[in-house]
Amino acid sequence: MDRQAQIEFLLDHYENPRNRGKIEDPDITMSWGNPGCGDVLTLYLKIDEAERIAEISFEGEGCTVSQASASILTEKLKGQPLAYAEALSPDDVTSWVGREVMFTRPRCALLALDTLKIALREYRRSHPHP
Ligand code: FES
Repeated sequence: MDRQAQIEFLLDHYENPRNRGKIEDPDITMSWGNPGCGDVLTLYLKIDEAERIAEISFEGEGCTVSQASASILTEKLKGQPLAYAEALSPDDVTSWVGREVMFTRPRCALLALDTLKIALREYRRSHPHP
């Protein structure tokens, strides 16, 4: 994606967020904030018996980059195995938001991934592998 397309992609996710709102009866609810600015994000996930992410959504208030990244994250994760989510790295987020955004706004771009990682650790703690 060129720079203009990247900006339009992020703006579209900010203005038309995918999977925004609370899902019914989530298995995981996790709120996490960016200490630098006070913005907070909440992720909701429903995990099925095959350890797939059956549903995922988010709520939050914050900058364009953090909210767009959360929207993109939920879109990428819906239907994916938990192991896929657990293996996601900042490099994956860079491939979604672009190098320039990751370089200039890393904490905003990574708020959703950080929240996800904490959520998954909590889930594993309460649902250990047999
Ligand atoms: Fe707060 Fe971007 S300025 S997350």
